Amino acid sequence: MAATHDPLEALAERALGLVRDGTVVGLGTGRAATAFLHALAARVRDGLRVKGVPTSEETARLARELGVPLVGLEADLDLTVDGADEVDPELNLIKGYGGALVRERIVAAASPRQVILVTADKLVKVLGSHGRLPVEVLPFALPLCRRRLEALGLKPVLRTEEGDRPFVTDNWNVLVDCATDPIEDPPALERAILAIPGVIDTGLFLGTADTVLVADGATVRELEGRRGRG
Ligand code: A5P
Repeated sequence: MAATHDPLEALAERALGLVRDGTVVGLGTGRAATAFLHALAARVRDGLRVKGVPTSEETARLARELGVPLVGLEADLDLTVDGADEVDPELNLIKGYGGALVRERIVAAASPRQVILVTADKLVKVLGSHGRLPVEVLPFALPLCRRRLEALGLKPVLRTEEGDRPFVTDNWNVLVDCATDPIEDPPALERAILAIPGVIDTGLFLGTADTVLVADGATVRELEGRRGRG
């Protein structure tokens, strides 16, 4: 196969190197995860036997279309391949710009290894540098959650689509995108947000990533996290 110049394809090809015959792989959501799914599907067409655990309805639909067999969380996962929106030097992440953070968290937790695919623009010194932290909220609790998030110094904005219609997640919840400054103490903020009644989860993924593959153009380098370093 000809060498690719596309960063996402380069990331996907590198991640494929981690997949063996019989691997059960968590399938992330978003552009990088989609590039990986396309690359995986091409191998499946060539005879590779894998099973995927999707992190969203969108990913499940695409996997079915591409002929990648799917299973649920009853399967023992080998690894999860997903994208991220921000990655700090300790490989802590912000996820959820694509709206699938809750199932991404669950599938990552069920996997012994989380592999994250990002382009270099996602690397930040401090989480929150891109100014946005998604939080999934039970619709009934939205007014309370908004007030409590504001009290934490965040500026929550309900995510909408097609005009004013609230974006509804695969779990029938809503998302608030919190405008934020760089976050001084991510674990403390995570604890404070999760303590708000009605908050389902936050986009802070602290200490979950084992490996981050970073594309600088079509060149891919590998960063190992605490779990990955053992
Ligand atoms: C989906 O909810 C997100 O967590 C994505 O993994 C994240 O937004 C990265 O997406 P891209 O690969 O599309 O940038």
